[in-house]
Amino acid sequence: MKRPRHFLKLSDLAPEEARRLVQRARELKAQRDALPRPFTGRTLAMIFAKSSTRTRVSFEVGMHKLGGHALMLPTAQTQLGREEPLADTARVISRMCDAVMIRNDSQADQEEFAAHSRVPVINGLSELHHPCQLLADVQTWFEHGGDPRGKTAAWIGDGNNVCNSWIEAARLFGFTLHVATPHQYRPAAAALAYAGKAVRLFDDPAAAAAGAQLVVTDTFTSMGREAEAAERMQVLAAFQVDTRLMARAAPDAVFMHCLPAHRGEEVTAEVIDGPQSVVWDEAENRLWAQMALLEFLLA
Ligand code: CP
Ligand code: NVA
Repeated sequence: MKRPRHFLKLSDLAPEEARRLVQRARELKAQRDALPRPFTGRTLAMIFAKSSTRTRVSFEVGMHKLGGHALMLPTAQTQLGREEPLADTARVISRMCDAVMIRNDSQADQEEFAAHSRVPVINGLSELHHPCQLLADVQTWFEHGGDPRGKTAAWIGDGNNVCNSWIEAARLFGFTLHVATPHQYRPAAAALAYAGKAVRLFDDPAAAAAGAQLVVTDTFTSMGREAEAAERMQVLAAFQVDTRLMARAAPDAVFMHCLPAHRGEEVTAEVIDGPQSVVWDEAENRLWAQMALLEFLLA
């Protein structure tokens, strides 16, 4: 059996593959009224152990637009919720479906699933990475600022799953990423090691944002961390993206957020609803980026 290609983290792609994918996403977007339908009779299984709006809708609509079908499988409604082994589930689903997307709290479990799957497995978010988000984010940066190569972005806030994928994106797409987090919420060491000199860590959000062409943040409390919410609000309060922080960045800097957002917490309403924000294009691009990803993996 030929081993399938998986997408469990952004660095599973070579730099030229990542660029080609983003380019293809832009082509599909431009062709939105005359899309190809290569996936007739093909199926994507979507296993969700956590909530989702964008990821679910974009994968389901994307498969449909390309002529295929997507299957919503909330973990608790499958036998996974009754302790059927992950490996057995992977063997079974991958004999019936052409690809599997998983959102859960365990990168290790996604890797185990992939090891037993005959078909491509896509990380739809884990505790460590959110690679699909970054395909859309980089596409959005291309649209609103041109090629990210040689530019600087600033991540402000929690060093979470989305931050780790931004870190990998920096090396993959050749930009510099400034990361400002409290010391107890630093990003994953493995992502930092992969990115090397493409990433610089800061304690001070203003210093990180200085001159950046893009400012990005995410919720202070990711799914699964709700018990820490009160402490996080306190520790991360100084990392809110507001108009003062945006004023430190380049005059034409754009603001991104993977959503869902919490106005008044990680970002002010003035910024996310203001003229520099590109969050709605960013959300829409999940659709086009993932269609390009599905084409790439299922080709
Ligand atoms: N950004 C993102 O992944 O959104 P959902 O949680 O709604 O899928
Ligand atoms: N960091 C957030 C992203 C949600 C799309 C979380 O993991 O909840």
